[in-house]
Amino acid sequence: MKASYDPLSLDDHADAERLLASVRKEAPVSCPHPGVNVVATDGLARAVLQDPQTYSSLFNFTLEPGPAPEDTTGAKSVITQTDPPDHAVLRGFLRRWFAPAALRKLEPTVREIVEEVVDALPRTGTVDLVGDLARVIPTRVVYSLIGVPRADWNRVQAWADAANATLPRQNVAVIGELIAYLAGLLQERSASGFRADDIIDGFVQPRPGDPVFDQTEAPLHPLQLILAGTDTTSGLIANVFYRMLEVRTNWMRLLERPELVGQAVEESLRCDSPIQYVLRTVTEPSAIEGCPMSPRDRVVVSLQSANWDEAAWGETASSYDLDRRDSAAHIAFGSGIHACLGAPLARIEARVTLETMLRVHPGLSPAEGFEWKLVPALQMRRPRSLAVNLSPSRGCHHRAYTSETTS
Ligand code: HEM
Repeated sequence: MKASYDPLSLDDHADAERLLASVRKEAPVSCPHPGVNVVATDGLARAVLQDPQTYSSLFNFTLEPGPAPEDTTGAKSVITQTDPPDHAVLRGFLRRWFAPAALRKLEPTVREIVEEVVDALPRTGTVDLVGDLARVIPTRVVYSLIGVPRADWNRVQAWADAANATLPRQNVAVIGELIAYLAGLLQERSASGFRADDIIDGFVQPRPGDPVFDQTEAPLHPLQLILAGTDTTSGLIANVFYRMLEVRTNWMRLLERPELVGQAVEESLRCDSPIQYVLRTVTEPSAIEGCPMSPRDRVVVSLQSANWDEAAWGETASSYDLDRRDSAAHIAFGSGIHACLGAPLARIEARVTLETMLRVHPGLSPAEGFEWKLVPALQMRRPRSLAVNLSPSRGCHHRAYTSETTS
């Protein structure tokens, strides 16, 4: 039987390392459903992402077996689902907050948030590093940047979690509730006259030359940022801590050489890509690696498979290696015109969280139950939970800890 990886199967997702390796070898472009093509190598993934004219982003983050719908009237106009020339207008507008220099200025705020979250942990004892740390920090950072009032954070996170969990199938009811909430927030802010230096303000108080959004469109953009910026970065933080503790010498090496923190983060993004794949729709008859594509065919670009591609990364491509060279050349943040706008922020959050935990809890170690149990969400890669022991002293953690690793 020809190798195949079904992006709509949780069983395949759980067995991704093995299945994607055989797909890369035997069928770099495979077709698990009629009209659905999975692209699995680094070179092909980059080629598709860098050709937005042939491979449209319309219907990105939506996948059903079969080609894309013919009727595009209901399609959204958010940045991840927009093609040129509209895409450039949205991207230009969002760069007011997401230009790398603007994001770098957020580092002190990120540090404050991380300190607060780490201070709230007990000095010693067992915690769930996913629930108590990795999930909390990115939501606080992104909600502050957007301007979601603190009193609403839990409510918004519950909606966002429910929406992300079902991707690439849209949780229409939950997304509808989140849109209604954000529409209310925009109206409230507009009516109150209250001004803040946040993204909601940018929509309420447009500057000359800004794009004009009607009341239906405006809430979709903060919605997109909430969905794009929280669960993804939580995944990154959870994944990098997993790799530091799965082989605790990695953690020890960071204690000795904190300058390796940036490399630990990049190798985590490569090896455990938080977003497993993105989606494109074919606009004109074309071919990828000799496989003919028809208009409306879907292309599943497996970022994870590209980042595990032996041809690009060598035979140990799917292993975590703190000494790997050029890890930062991964495509976990995408490639081409849609490459992640929040990447510098996600990197700051992960680096500052590691730095803070290395300082406050240098004795961090895996606890009973520490294991890689993949979250059951098709487009995400992170563990459901991570049981760890906290310790403010380096202490001695001689227990040889081995955890069962499943992909
Ligand atoms: C580790 C964390 C993150 C990962 C792995 C990630 C991954 C990605 C990927 C793969 C894309 C490209 C989508 C495509 O080509 O279809 C993307 C786009 C985007 N991301 Fe991120 N992201 C992360 C964090 C963030 C954060 C923190 C924000 C904002 C708060 C953000 C905002 C965006 C936006 C606005 C886009 C759309 C860019 C465009 O379409 O031009 N992301 N991200």
